[in-house]
Amino acid sequence: MTPDPINRRLGVLISGRGSNLQALIDAIGDGRLNATIAVVISNREDAAGLERARAAGIEAICLPHRAWPTRDDYDRALVRELRARDVDLVCLAGFMRLVGAPLIDAFPNAILNVHPSLLPAFPGLDAQRQAIEHGVKVSGVTVHLVTAELDGGPIIVQRVVPVLPNDTVESLAARILEEEHRAYPEAVQMILDGGWRVDGRRLVKV
Ligand code: GAR
Repeated sequence: MTPDPINRRLGVLISGRGSNLQALIDAIGDGRLNATIAVVISNREDAAGLERARAAGIEAICLPHRAWPTRDDYDRALVRELRARDVDLVCLAGFMRLVGAPLIDAFPNAILNVHPSLLPAFPGLDAQRQAIEHGVKVSGVTVHLVTAELDGGPIIVQRVVPVLPNDTVESLAARILEEEHRAYPEAVQMILDGGWRVDGRRLVKV
């Protein structure tokens, strides 16, 4: 990534609703996040987030993963689209695909993900359901760098969210989502600001 803090270019990958994408768009709009979204890419044609992007004047494209024979071929296609738009940082925002070596190697320590639990608890799908079923009293949000380990990369930001006795998966997910929308733009800005390095699996200040 270039050291110039102005106009750094984000590529946002989505699969659905796109509320975290919207949080990034809003944070850029009100100056909390100093960046430009160069492109939004969905692996699903019906992702509502594509419309959110277009409504904000952002280029939004669909790369349906089934159109490529292997996961690596798909990841290479993503890399081509991101590089064609000079993307500096890739933000996964509800992108429900495992990302593999071609994408991770093309953007070393430059892919972020937001996950609705306090990792390493409850990685993978249905994190909010996992939290309810386990009976934890707190859960939360993790924003982390993406590595080859599923939901396992160095942690940038975590926020705690209470799990209430009468919570359903939906009520907990909604409470966590509010916190995701605050935490993700902050974490993206922290990474863009620099002054950090990866030490083992920890993100540390330099
Ligand atoms: C968010 O809760 C996000 O944390 C989660 O999917 C939702 C997407 O919502 N991501 C994962 O579970 C990734 N493992 P959105 O499309 O409204 O941003």
